[in-house]
Amino acid sequence: MKEQLAINGGNPIRQLPYPKWPLFTQKDKDDLAAALDDGRMTSITGPKVKEFEDKYAEKFGAKYALATSNGVVALHLALAALEIGPGDEVIVPAHTFIGTAIPVVMANAIPVFVDVRLDTFNIDPLKIEAAITDRTKAIMPVHLNGLCAEMDTIAAIAKKHNLFVIEDACQAHGGKYKGKTAGTIGDIGCFSFFEDKVLTTGEGGMLITDSPQYYELARCIRSYGEGLVTSIGERKYEHVKLGFNYRMGSLNAALGINQLDRLEEMVQKRNSNAKYLIEKLSGTEGVITPKEIEYCLNAYYKFVCRIDRTKISVELDKFIEAIKAEGIPATPRYPKPLPLQKVFKDGCGYGKTDCPYGCDKYGRKPAFFDGSWPVAEQVGRDAFVLLIHPSVEEKDLDDVANAVNKVAANFIN
Ligand SMILES: Cc1ncc(COP(=O)(O)O)c(C=O)c1O
Repeated sequence: MKEQLAINGGNPIRQLPYPKWPLFTQKDKDDLAAALDDGRMTSITGPKVKEFEDKYAEKFGAKYALATSNGVVALHLALAALEIGPGDEVIVPAHTFIGTAIPVVMANAIPVFVDVRLDTFNIDPLKIEAAITDRTKAIMPVHLNGLCAEMDTIAAIAKKHNLFVIEDACQAHGGKYKGKTAGTIGDIGCFSFFEDKVLTTGEGGMLITDSPQYYELARCIRSYGEGLVTSIGERKYEHVKLGFNYRMGSLNAALGINQLDRLEEMVQKRNSNAKYLIEKLSGTEGVITPKEIEYCLNAYYKFVCRIDRTKISVELDKFIEAIKAEGIPATPRYPKPLPLQKVFKDGCGYGKTDCPYGCDKYGRKPAFFDGSWPVAEQVGRDAFVLLIHPSVEEKDLDDVANAVNKVAANFIN
């Protein structure tokens, strides 16, 4: 006999609230209070942002780190530092957060969407070369949900076609690919410190690179295209580039610094939680758990499962609502592929124009208007997120597994 689902009036698996994330230590809070007392709130006037950048660069083994107000502008700065702009194309995955593709348009360039792999949800390297044109300047792989994209193949394609690689590591702090840290493999790596990320400053971002040239250009554009400003706030108000204000503030930096000391431990806990949940769900018919790849350390930002459509036909929304009714948080994972979003489908550009798509420098119809992304569409229809952040314990995961089991058993064909 199937157990009655909570959504249909049965008893929910869990009544307790799910563990919170993020959590901060007393030291994080003390350092935040000290930064407030210090009163120098900006990277121009105070030392905190530089301290965070230096510690980040050291931790990640990069020569340079540049803190930003969030991840999407770190990606925008990366494009600007590589001088990618009007008339250029950048290859991005079709299934990711929109923050991957928007900076391309904001740089006046064209995002070209490539389908993803069904097993990893990451860009399918076998489909990249078909998307390369004489306009392509960069590939922007995303390490989605914490798992690294196939960087060896991507690097080989980039080398063959003389393209830059910008890693969108916004979801993969501390993740590794064949021993290399996510974000350090391409020309530039970018991170987000949005509230629920592996490492968080509320809002925030970081760009890392080994190139003094890219770093210097990004640093200048981050702050109004201004020439060097000293840490005691001496400004010459000389503006040499078209820049903006993409700076991080001292309070955000103060929140980030101590978390770097805990990064490995947090990624380890996410991994042990993931392994525990994979094991617990191994007998659950109709649910496919995340693929484990032996040469990757997954940062496990999110635990993303897929409904096996040979066994369960119910719509994703209903499946998720049923899990939530059992007292377990669950959400869909990017249900609509990016190229099918109105903003891209309609070629929305600047103001009332269709620039950059209709820009004279581009002079062609964007390829993505004609494309199709069957895997991204399938993932959008079938994938759902479960939470395994470091404050989650095995007893919580037992509830997660019991809820998913109960729901799957009820919906099995
Ligand atoms: C893959 C990816 N790219 C870019 C971003 C943009 O980061 P932010 O939200 O900090 O601007 C995010 C953040 O959620 C992301 O997950």
